[in-house]
Amino acid sequence: MRQLFYIFMSLVVLIKCEIYSRPNIVFIVADDLGWGDVSFHGSDQIMTPNIDMLAYQGVIIPQYYTHAYGTPARSALLTGKYPIRTGTQGISIASAEDHGVSPTERLLPEYLQELGYSTHLIGKWGVGKSREHYLPTNRGFDTFYGFLGSSVDYFTYNHVETWNDTVFYGLDFFNNSDPIEDQRGHLTEVLTEQAVNLIRNHNTSVPLYLHISHAAPHAGGGYVNLQPPEDLIAANDHIAHTARRYYAGLVAGLDRSVGHVILALAERQLLHNTIVIFVSDNGAASTGLNRNFGSNLPLRGTKGTPWEGAVRTTAVVWHASIPSNIWPGLFHVADWMPTLIAAAGGNYNDTIDGINQWNAITKDEPPPRHDALITMDDLTDSAAFRQGDYKIIIGNVEPDKSQFYGTELQKLRLPGYSYENVLLSCDTALVFKETLFLNLDLNMAAMKRNNSNLYWNINVTTNSENLCVPTKAKGCLYDLSVDPAETNDLWSSHPELVHHMVLRLRVYWSTLNPRQRPTADPRANPALHDFIWLPWVDNGENVSKALQEFPSFPLQVSVGELQYLVDFNLKAFKDSLTNYVQSSADAFMQNIVGLFSF
Ligand SMILES: *[C@@H]1O[C@H](CO)[C@@H](O)[C@H](O)[C@H]1NC(C)=O
Ligand SMILES: *[C@@H]1O[C@H](CO)[C@@H](O)[C@H](O)[C@H]1NC(C)=O
Ligand SMILES: *[C@@H]1O[C@H](CO)[C@@H](O)[C@H](O)[C@H]1NC(C)=O
Ligand SMILES: *[C@@H]1O[C@H](CO)[C@@H](O)[C@H](O)[C@H]1NC(C)=O
Ligand SMILES: *[C@@H]1O[C@H](CO)[C@@H](O)[C@H](O)[C@H]1NC(C)=O
Ligand SMILES: *[C@@H]1O[C@H](CO)[C@@H](O)[C@H](O)[C@H]1NC(C)=O
Ligand SMILES: *[C@@H]1O[C@H](CO)[C@@H](O)[C@H](O)[C@H]1NC(C)=O
Repeated sequence: MRQLFYIFMSLVVLIKCEIYSRPNIVFIVADDLGWGDVSFHGSDQIMTPNIDMLAYQGVIIPQYYTHAYGTPARSALLTGKYPIRTGTQGISIASAEDHGVSPTERLLPEYLQELGYSTHLIGKWGVGKSREHYLPTNRGFDTFYGFLGSSVDYFTYNHVETWNDTVFYGLDFFNNSDPIEDQRGHLTEVLTEQAVNLIRNHNTSVPLYLHISHAAPHAGGGYVNLQPPEDLIAANDHIAHTARRYYAGLVAGLDRSVGHVILALAERQLLHNTIVIFVSDNGAASTGLNRNFGSNLPLRGTKGTPWEGAVRTTAVVWHASIPSNIWPGLFHVADWMPTLIAAAGGNYNDTIDGINQWNAITKDEPPPRHDALITMDDLTDSAAFRQGDYKIIIGNVEPDKSQFYGTELQKLRLPGYSYENVLLSCDTALVFKETLFLNLDLNMAAMKRNNSNLYWNINVTTNSENLCVPTKAKGCLYDLSVDPAETNDLWSSHPELVHHMVLRLRVYWSTLNPRQRPTADPRANPALHDFIWLPWVDNGENVSKALQEFPSFPLQVSVGELQYLVDFNLKAFKDSLTNYVQSSADAFMQNIVGLFSF
């Protein structure tokens, strides 16, 4: 009977081949997953067959830009705005910090709720929790099951933070607003079970928005760093580096979770009309704080920097009726909000930076995005902007985080897996075949795997002396279409382009909402709240802003830049500017001198 139903549904899909109104949306976010750590990007070491199946049968977005840290990536996703609009740029919000996305912002799930969706967040929140009005169930999610801060221990769900030699520690795990104290098990599995139960109990006459925001493969947020599910440690015995083996176990747990969610959707006959998205919030922390032994190779840099390894991540969109593709356009994390609202048949009514890419992805229309503000961090003083194939990076970037990391992690001590066997036997491959009659074309898969593997094009040099690192006097410029690893600096050879892109950055900088330097509120200490990280500030309390001067632009004005401005045809510039930053254009014209701090 079930088989017959599947056959019937599959015929419907094959014949109609279109996306029904108000499709279900399952949005899966990984935390600190390295670019090079999914097998469809070419890894022969870490196997991610379920994610790969979505990539091969769906749309791979190789030029997907997010942010260098979790909070800005997530705030952009939820608001459709660059984080500088909401003061959430730079380092993630600390658990003891009184900060969050302002309740005056309207978030993606609020729009979807209005369109009749049942909306659920499972896993990480990360955009503010000091006050009740910042919490997910007050921001458009019908239900929430997970953690509110940046990371927790995978078994105790506790979060630890040290301020002035005082260690703040306590439980960060909630069902809506109730602390969960009786749950046991590995976090990835607990979240997955919750997602599967939610799908099983979902009223299928209502469209579903399920946001599964994993902790994996972020380092544990307690006292222990790498905590894979027990059974997935041995599964990665072939990997020589011991810490890397544990990281691979975390990634394998994440991939297995994707398979279980796909299986649950198929069981409820929801799969044929569900959009499944898989992305990472930012690249791996290959070095420094929260190091997880992930690898962004062949991309440069690590989490928290403006380099591609931090801000360009794995991104896949799948729906049974969207043709398989490697999508050629530029996509920014802020684009999800308008794109998914369009997929759900709605409209937004706010001024945002995100662009609706739905028709470009599903109907082969030309990609509408031509540039993107990649990062702007007024605490570390750095920024990156992409225009066409070019990327500019300015300001203060740590040389110690600007290298290539992870070649020493790639070694095997035992033979690895046979990729084809792993791929064809995973849950997602079996479900696709059984319920949607989607048989994987292995030649197509091999071609997509080869074409989304940047290694062929990259000469990873470990010779740091040759790599440009920006200073206050000079930034770096790259043509990513031929140099995705950011090794060949074009700053000196392309002065016109540099001046133009710097000017774009000056305009954005002049409009930023400063990021307050994170400080701990002593009242946040979980020791004061039964060792639970509860909200501790009344909604009505004024947000305290440390007195701070407006941050100055992190690049000195050069003679060349001034000359460029003088030569500029202001009328033409105003016209072109109006297209990109309508609201800032007039202010810019009046304040052009004000942009420079002489
Ligand atoms: C979460 O709490 C709600 C009530 O707010 C309850 O109905 C539900 O069963 C709880 N879920 C779990 C998984 O405990
Ligand atoms: C499912 O949702 C529909 C539409 O809102 C509603 O009419 C129906 O009563 C719901 N079914 C259950 C079992 O709640
Ligand atoms: C957008 O729509 C919502 C709900 O319909 C409304 O509350 C809000 O005021 C609107 N915002 C603007 C700027 O029109
Ligand atoms: C792999 O991809 C590269 C870049 O697209 C191409 O030059 C090369 O021929 C491909 N190799 C195979 C075996 O398809
Ligand atoms: C890679 O870069 C190194 C150092 O710049 C250079 O010597 C070598 O020839 C390059 N290899 C290729 C294949 O381009
Ligand atoms: C840390 O010390 C500073 C300076 O004494 C103080 O202002 C701040 O409140 C302290 N923070 C905590 C969390 O105790
Ligand atoms: C909160 O801010 C408002 C407006 O700036 C001010 O009038 C009010 O006095 C402040 N309240 C407190 C308790 O500081």
